[in-house]
Amino acid sequence: VDVRLDLFDEIARLKKEKNAVLLAHYYQEPDIQDVADYIGDSLGLAQAAAKTDADIIVFAGVHFMAETAKILNPHKKVLLPDLKAGCSLADSAPPELFKKFKEKYPDHLVISYINCSAGIKALSDIICTSSNAEKIIESLPKDQPIIFAPDRNLGSYLNKKTGRNMVLWNGACMVHEIFSLEKIINLKTRHPKAKVIAHPECEAPILAIADYIGSTTGLLKFSQRDEAQEFIVVTETGILHQMQKENPSKTFIPAPPNNACACNDCPHMKLNTLEKLYLCMEYEQPEITMDENLRIAAKKPIDLMLEISA
Ligand code: 13P
Ligand code: SF4
Repeated sequence: VDVRLDLFDEIARLKKEKNAVLLAHYYQEPDIQDVADYIGDSLGLAQAAAKTDADIIVFAGVHFMAETAKILNPHKKVLLPDLKAGCSLADSAPPELFKKFKEKYPDHLVISYINCSAGIKALSDIICTSSNAEKIIESLPKDQPIIFAPDRNLGSYLNKKTGRNMVLWNGACMVHEIFSLEKIINLKTRHPKAKVIAHPECEAPILAIADYIGSTTGLLKFSQRDEAQEFIVVTETGILHQMQKENPSKTFIPAPPNNACACNDCPHMKLNTLEKLYLCMEYEQPEITMDENLRIAAKKPIDLMLEISA
């Protein structure tokens, strides 16, 4: 890379020249969020991918998100700045093991959280995200037995909220399991007026002390509408950039991890950088490709989710 290039200008030029749209998740680094055409949570990003008329979708997020965009847009080029940007939660559900697990529950329908591979999506009946999960569950009859995969924390939170008894796959996100309840409580004693806002991928004891639980978009909107001036934010740190931007006079404190060496940055999300983003737009790679039969099978439960969430 010519270090004299202004990457912001170059990325803007490439977007125009190539009719490319840049979609970014809230966990991306601030510079990437600032050049994106659309920033959102997983549902917002899937909806944006479903309706774009750009020729190229550049996905600043992790692999399952770009893969979902490709599933919805087989004829568009979908680029991901670093193909190694995976997801510990998606990795916790290998399709061949999940297939065997599913065979033990022949009467159950499968609701899968969008944080999973195309292989898991192809084995699922409906996909959900943290912002529409309750609605998706409620769309099924009360007595319908359900398997929920792959996040056990979100699954048990949803079981409590909806009064269902979904069978849970034992997966989790490495970032959301790192928070220390004790340190959050200590922080709260020092900031008694602060509201604790948490993502539902966190473990149950953390969720039990939260004032608000929601997807990244949900957390951002809550921080805008709530009268509190201080918030303890229990999720990946990337979201703080938008919170601070939207609410310059409020204070956002990232929740502390359970030990000093741990960190609540997602190592997968943070693999993408502005430099890699520029290179991927310039050279149009790495590109997401996938088997057509797998794509068709994985698309069905995503379409159903988009229909129910419209
Ligand atoms: P949402 O942005 O949909 O809340 O998802 C959070 C997440 O962990 C994405 O990897
Ligand atoms: Fe996956 Fe967790 Fe990173 Fe989101 S924050 S991409 S769920 S590892």
